[in-house]
Amino acid sequence: MGLLSLTFLTALVGLAASQSAVFIGGNESEENVPLWDKVIELAGGKGVAKFGIFGTASSDPEGSAAYYIDMLINVYGAASATYIPITETSNNADDPAMVDLVRQQTAFFFGGGDQLRILNAIRPAGRETLVLTAMKEMVKAGAMVGGTSAGAACLSDTVMITGGSSYDGLIYGAFSGGPNSNNAGDLSYDEHGGLGFLAGWVPDTHFSERGREARLIRLLQDSRYRDIGTPWGFGLDEDMALVVTDLYTRPVGKVIGTSGGVFIADVTNTIVTPSTTTNYEGVSAHYLTQDDTIDLTTGNVTFASWKTPLKGNEQYANAEISNDILSSKRSRSWASAAAQFFDNQLDDTVTHFSFEKNPTFEVSFNRLSGAGYRGPLPNDPLTFVVSHENLQVGIRESIAV
Ligand SMILES: *[C@@H]1O[C@H](CO)[C@@H](O)[C@H](O)[C@H]1NC(C)=O
Ligand SMILES: *[C@@H]1O[C@H](CO)[C@@H](O)[C@H](O)[C@H]1NC(C)=O
Repeated sequence: MGLLSLTFLTALVGLAASQSAVFIGGNESEENVPLWDKVIELAGGKGVAKFGIFGTASSDPEGSAAYYIDMLINVYGAASATYIPITETSNNADDPAMVDLVRQQTAFFFGGGDQLRILNAIRPAGRETLVLTAMKEMVKAGAMVGGTSAGAACLSDTVMITGGSSYDGLIYGAFSGGPNSNNAGDLSYDEHGGLGFLAGWVPDTHFSERGREARLIRLLQDSRYRDIGTPWGFGLDEDMALVVTDLYTRPVGKVIGTSGGVFIADVTNTIVTPSTTTNYEGVSAHYLTQDDTIDLTTGNVTFASWKTPLKGNEQYANAEISNDILSSKRSRSWASAAAQFFDNQLDDTVTHFSFEKNPTFEVSFNRLSGAGYRGPLPNDPLTFVVSHENLQVGIRESIAV
């Protein structure tokens, strides 16, 4: 980069200078004011923020972008929001005019759809296009990158999840090479990885709503020893965001939103017993809600100061057993069971079951090294949210009849 363009870049994004990435779990509300205000702030602020919008993941890229352009300018006060006309078939991600367009922005946003369309357009077969290189330079200089659903799933440098259900994942494991059109349930990933804005974490989306906990755990374990594998992943609930700042120095993620949370999975110490399906012990899981933070270098979590430990103040006598713990249709099966578990007085362990049979899986929760936290939402004090850390999870085929 020449001196002139470096000066230009610094001046352009010096206002934000946050090196930030915003991961949104999909189905986000236009009325989620704290979320969109934060996006605008990290992009440089009202009247300053200039967004480049990618509708690339959508089957209607321009229509998808138009929605965000209208909202960011007319509802949240962005100075500008511009459609970046790069699609799976436009073949222009190395075009100098597109690079120029990218360099005029202070932020980039990727809408939802299919994350492979984004990869095919701007990182085909793992090759970084000039547009992607320019975006990375901009983010390093302080610009923001964000996305929702597929637009969030593609932002990391690790293997990228491309589809599949928890139950099928537990039976057959995770496949590289992308989705299998013959079996949509197959748990699949792209071994070239995502766009590479965040290092070392696999993001997943629509998370508690579609019961994706076991799929993320199995994917992490099956891919962790690949060159771009990792034992760490996070699952974003709908209308929830993990806002990562200081991406290239000491990245820290903070949770924004009130409708759910962010699930954190760590398979570093998982013990795998050979099995024709899945037999895991010692998966560590956290669930973070509004204002909780995670140090993405160490995995250390910190709970919001307005939350207090649940221990000694639990509402329920015993843990409830779920008979549909892996459900992809009944929203928040696992998330509700985990919250209730930390809110019970007597049981330090509980075993749940899959509704699916042949095989039936059992999922055990152990809280002996964990802790739950609860607090009233600062802007809605009658609503309480529950977080937890170090839930120890085991998953195996059930031998009970
Ligand atoms: C999106 O979220 C709303 C609740 O905020 C829910 O009513 C709706 O069904 C969700 N849409 C989809 C497609 O899941
Ligand atoms: C994690 O956080 C705790 C306190 O919050 C601190 O004492 C500890 O050193 C941290 N661990 C790492 C690895 O940063």
